[in-house]
Amino acid sequence: MTIAFFSILLVLVLSAISVAASSPNRNGSDTDLATLLAFKAQFSDPLGVLAGNWTTSTSFCHWVGIRCSRRRQRVTALSLPDTPLYGPITPHLGNLSFLSVLSLNNTNITGSIPHDLGRLHRLEFLRLGYNGLSDSIPPTIGNLSRLQVLDLKLNLLSGSIPLELRNLYNLAYINLMKNSISGSIPTDMFNNTPMLTYLNFANNSLSGSIPSCVGSLPLLRNLIMHYNHLTGLVPPSIFNMSKLQGIYLTHNYLTGSFPTNASFNLPMLQIIAIGQNNFTSHVPLGLASCQYLKVISFSLNSFEGVVPTWLGKLTRLIWLAMGENGLFGSIPRAP
Ligand SMILES: *[C@@H]1O[C@H](CO)[C@@H](O)[C@H](O)[C@H]1NC(C)=O
Ligand SMILES: *[C@@H]1O[C@H](CO)[C@@H](O)[C@H](O)[C@H]1NC(C)=O
Ligand SMILES: *[C@@H]1O[C@H](CO)[C@@H](O)[C@H](O)[C@H]1NC(C)=O
Ligand SMILES: *[C@@H]1O[C@H](CO)[C@@H](O)[C@H](O)[C@H]1NC(C)=O
Ligand SMILES: *[C@@H]1O[C@H](CO)[C@@H](O)[C@H](O)[C@H]1NC(C)=O
Ligand SMILES: *[C@@H]1O[C@H](CO)[C@@H](O)[C@H](O)[C@H]1NC(C)=O
Ligand SMILES: *[C@@H]1O[C@H](CO)[C@@H](O)[C@H](O)[C@H]1NC(C)=O
Ligand SMILES: *[C@@H]1O[C@H](CO)[C@@H](O)[C@H](O)[C@H]1NC(C)=O
Ligand SMILES: *[C@@H]1O[C@H](CO)[C@@H](O)[C@H](O)[C@H]1NC(C)=O
Ligand SMILES: *[C@@H]1O[C@H](CO)[C@@H](O)[C@H](O)[C@H]1NC(C)=O
Repeated sequence: MTIAFFSILLVLVLSAISVAASSPNRNGSDTDLATLLAFKAQFSDPLGVLAGNWTTSTSFCHWVGIRCSRRRQRVTALSLPDTPLYGPITPHLGNLSFLSVLSLNNTNITGSIPHDLGRLHRLEFLRLGYNGLSDSIPPTIGNLSRLQVLDLKLNLLSGSIPLELRNLYNLAYINLMKNSISGSIPTDMFNNTPMLTYLNFANNSLSGSIPSCVGSLPLLRNLIMHYNHLTGLVPPSIFNMSKLQGIYLTHNYLTGSFPTNASFNLPMLQIIAIGQNNFTSHVPLGLASCQYLKVISFSLNSFEGVVPTWLGKLTRLIWLAMGENGLFGSIPRAP
């Protein structure tokens, strides 16, 4: 009776041990290891950076480009900027559930951005700029509610800007410069992104108008949308932003005149580059109160009237381009 009881117990204990030993995913740390090996396996890695270092003889927390959490053996950062990897990002990367930094800037990665990255709900920094990534930005990126930096500049991305990006409440920096992104900017894209300080959509194929919600971003310092196909009026709210330092809208199809100086309040403005559009009417008087102004670039528009004398009072001005407009009069002297 007792012997039978103990042998049953022994069998149970032994089988529990063997299940533990053979299970491929005993804990999250094993999932991270399997994920990193799947990530590595996709790359040709011509300099052997991963081949020589990412070996199972050492804990992955000591691998080049990996940072782990202190308490658990979980990957919190995967950062290999400027490392030639050559190949696609495996969708398995979505399994690194503790990841907060993913930085693969300038690594010659190709293929599309996996939808699975939208599962990295702790992600704060996503830097994939200077690569050969193609296809459209997956809407699942909008699920990354802790994301602060979204840097996808200089890739081959196409399609339109996903509506879902409006859910990135913590976004401080977005850079989509120099891709082939088309379509219009979602009208309510910036209704819930109050932390945004830097917005760069330059050198794409965006059309439609600039949404007026851009003008209600309280911390925005740089608005960069040059070299697109944007049309219509610039929302007046953009000329009433207390932190704005740079407006870059060169080479679009923008029209209209500027608000009168009663509703023109850009106290921090340093650079206004709006050449190669079709702005009309007078050079906005509101600029006269922008004491930090360094660059005014207004060439190739339809501005009219006399070149204003107050330009001579902008003591920090180092660049003034106003050619190819309907302006006349003499160039004002500095005081
Ligand atoms: C998870 O498994 C790894 C070995 O694969 C081990 O080093 C680590 O201590 C385990 N962590 C926990 C919390 O059990
Ligand atoms: C991998 O790289 C890290 C960081 O450069 C280094 O500390 C570690 O010794 C390397 N491991 C191997 C096995 O080369
Ligand atoms: C990891 O992610 C891939 C793709 O998203 C999925 O198919 C796979 O089941 C996951 N593996 C683990 C161990 O969670
Ligand atoms: C990304 O890589 C490029 C090329 O090496 C470099 O110029 C740029 O400063 C890097 N950007 C970031 C944010 O690391
Ligand atoms: C690798 O990336 C660099 C920087 O983006 C780029 O200059 C180079 O042409 C790329 N190489 C290939 C073979 O695509
Ligand atoms: C992630 O985003 C997709 C597409 O926007 C959505 O269908 C899905 O429900 C989201 N998942 C979670 C867990 O929020
Ligand atoms: C954007 O396009 C203009 C005109 O083609 C070009 O001069 C500029 O270098 C481009 N910017 C980048 C970052 O490629
Ligand atoms: C308009 O601008 C001029 C020149 O800076 C300034 O003297 C004037 O007070 C401004 N008027 C209003 C209503 O802001
Ligand atoms: C300018 O912005 C301030 C603060 O956001 C707001 O109170 C004010 O009504 C705005 N003025 C105009 C003319 O839009
Ligand atoms: C620019 O606007 C003016 C006035 O609205 C118009 O006469 C002109 O045809 C426009 N020019 C271009 C190139 O669109």
